[in-house]
Amino acid sequence: MSVFTNWTDEHTRKFHNDIIYVNHNLESTGLFTDVALAEMLDNHPDNMLDVCTMGTDSMYPNQFRTGDFRGCDGKSLIEMVKAGKLYINARRAMNLHPEYNEVLKKMYGELSEKTGNKGFNANGGILISSPIAKVPYHTDRQHVVLWHIRGTKRVYVYPMTDKFISDASYEAVVTSTLLDDLPYEVAFDEHASVLTLNGGEMACWQLNQPHRVVNETFCVSIASEYSNRESALKNSAMFAQAAMRSKFGSTPVWQDTVPSIRLAKAVAGKVLKKSGLYKGRTTPDFVTFKVDKSVPGYIVDIDPVPRDF
Ligand SMILES: [Fe+2]
Repeated sequence: MSVFTNWTDEHTRKFHNDIIYVNHNLESTGLFTDVALAEMLDNHPDNMLDVCTMGTDSMYPNQFRTGDFRGCDGKSLIEMVKAGKLYINARRAMNLHPEYNEVLKKMYGELSEKTGNKGFNANGGILISSPIAKVPYHTDRQHVVLWHIRGTKRVYVYPMTDKFISDASYEAVVTSTLLDDLPYEVAFDEHASVLTLNGGEMACWQLNQPHRVVNETFCVSIASEYSNRESALKNSAMFAQAAMRSKFGSTPVWQDTVPSIRLAKAVAGKVLKKSGLYKGRTTPDFVTFKVDKSVPGYIVDIDPVPRDF
């Protein structure tokens, strides 16, 4: 059976160049029921699991806060997600668990067939999120495909212009180990494309296109990502731009950079990174709450400590 049920030539044309959405039948694998997900979570390594809630900063609304979930089994975690304000990302679950990996291979095999892109080498995380969960305004460093499986969520996707994602803000992302949030203004929403995704729909957009997500119900999705020549070259070049901006006070503009200079910047970026001549910021991941099934809302704030699990 095919993964996609209504892929057309127009999807092929728009892939990587525009927003697309298309139907898939991943739910029929049986791997995304509460029972199957609970079992997956029980077998998932702690250091590859993120259990988060959302903060209240006005410039970075809904920024993720990392929680300590140790001692909670998969079944309880799913129950708390359904009734609370939590967001679980089982990172690389689609790669690490053999039965899920079979499905990931099929998903990307078909994407290769449809788009002519070879060797995606994708990672896939499983996202399990509360009815009131939100994903803050952010960008991703690689190409992302969102395979929505259960529930309903609204995805706001914003234009790829300086107003929504300035070079400086993207440089901050590529030179940081943790950050992918971008500064947000409510007025941005007038310019957003709003996708209402129901279970069984997949969506993707252009490389780095800023987006945020608002859940309407309990949701289960796969977020898969892959790098290619385009994303690798841009990320190296933006690393060089960050150095030019902070060390030499120059104001490089990626959009106006001709291809040969883009390549030169990418080579410079690689050298700067490898040699350590310019260092990004290593931001430690701080744990700021503990998940506790016995308290209302399941969140107990703690004094921040660096994550060590
Ligand atoms: Fe994203």
